[in-house]
Amino acid sequence: MNLSEFQSEWMPRFDDYLYSELDARVPSQENLHKAMAYSLMGGGKRIRPLLVLATLSMAGGEISDGFAAAAALEYIHTYSLIHDDLPAMDDDDYRRGRLTSHKVFGESTAILAGDALLTAAFEILAASSVVSADKKVKLIGLLAKAAGPSGMIAGQMDDVEGETKALTIEELEQVHDKKTGALIRYAVTAGCLIAEADEPFSTEMEDFSRQLGLAYQIHNDLKDVVLDEAETGKTIHHDAALNKNTYPSLLGVTGAIQELNSVILQAEGCLDRAALSYGGAEGKIDIFRQLLDYVRI
Ligand code: IPE
Ligand code: IPE
Ligand code: MG
Ligand code: MG
Repeated sequence: MNLSEFQSEWMPRFDDYLYSELDARVPSQENLHKAMAYSLMGGGKRIRPLLVLATLSMAGGEISDGFAAAAALEYIHTYSLIHDDLPAMDDDDYRRGRLTSHKVFGESTAILAGDALLTAAFEILAASSVVSADKKVKLIGLLAKAAGPSGMIAGQMDDVEGETKALTIEELEQVHDKKTGALIRYAVTAGCLIAEADEPFSTEMEDFSRQLGLAYQIHNDLKDVVLDEAETGKTIHHDAALNKNTYPSLLGVTGAIQELNSVILQAEGCLDRAALSYGGAEGKIDIFRQLLDYVRI
C-alpha cells in the first residue's frame, strides 16, 4: 500500500474518531467546542497521526490501536499552533489559508481552546481501553515529556528568546529538535511502543523521526521565504519581521536547501536500515519514503 492509499483508507476513519472524541470531551460548552473544532478540523495535514499509524502498521500492530495516541498528539499539535499564533507569540492572522483562532473567536477563547485541547489530549489517552494500562502510562508520560518543558515548550521558549539574539546553527538545530522534533519523534515512539516493535527496527525508525523532525522545521522555515501566501496559507516573510532565527536567516536560502537535502538523505538512510532490519517490510517502508516528499523543496 502506498502513502495515498494508506491515507484514503485510514485518515477519514481517524478524522471521525478525532471529532467524536471532541463531542465526548466537550459535552456542554458550545463556544469552546466551536473554537476547538475550528482548528482541529481546519485542514491540517495530519502528518503526526499518520506517522503513528504507519509506524504501527509497519511494526505489525493493529492500526486502530493507535487512534487514541494519534488523536492525543494531534490535539496537542493543534493547541500548540493556536497558542503559537497569538499576538503575544508570533502574532499571525492566517494559518492554513484561514483566519487564526484568536482572529475569529477572540484571544480569551483562543487561549482556552488551546488549554482545552492540551488537557483533553491526556483525557483521550487515559480513557482509551485498547492498549494495556502499562503501555498507557508510558504513552502518557512520553507525551507529556515531548510536549512539555523539556520538549516542545522548551523549544518555543528558545524560539522566543532567539528573537533578541543570534543563534549558531548548532543551537538552532537544538531549538528545532525540541519545538518541532519532539512531537514528531513521539509519533514514531508511540507507534513502536503500541506494536511492541523489535530492535533494531525501532531504533532506526526513531533516528528517522529525528531527521524528519529537523527536515520538517527547515522546510517550514524555507516556505516562509520561497513560497507565496496562496501556497503557505500564512503571511509570508513573517519570520524575518519577527527577527526569528531560521535556517535561511543563518545559512541563506541556498545553504538552507542544501542542509534540508542532506537531512533528507540521512532520513532515507535510516529507512534503508529499518527496512533491512525488518525483512519483508520493503513495501510498507515506501510510505515513509513518500512522506519525505512533504519536506522537499
Ligand atoms: C506546522 O506544522 C508547524 C510546525 C511545527 C512546523 P504542520 O505543517 O504539520 O501543520 P498542519 O497541521 O499541517 O497545518
Ligand atoms: C511552530 O513553529 C511550532 C510550534 C507551534 C511548536 P513556527 O512558529 O516556526 O511555525 P509556523 O510558521 O507558525 O507554522
Ligand atoms: Mg513560532
Ligand atoms: Mg509561528
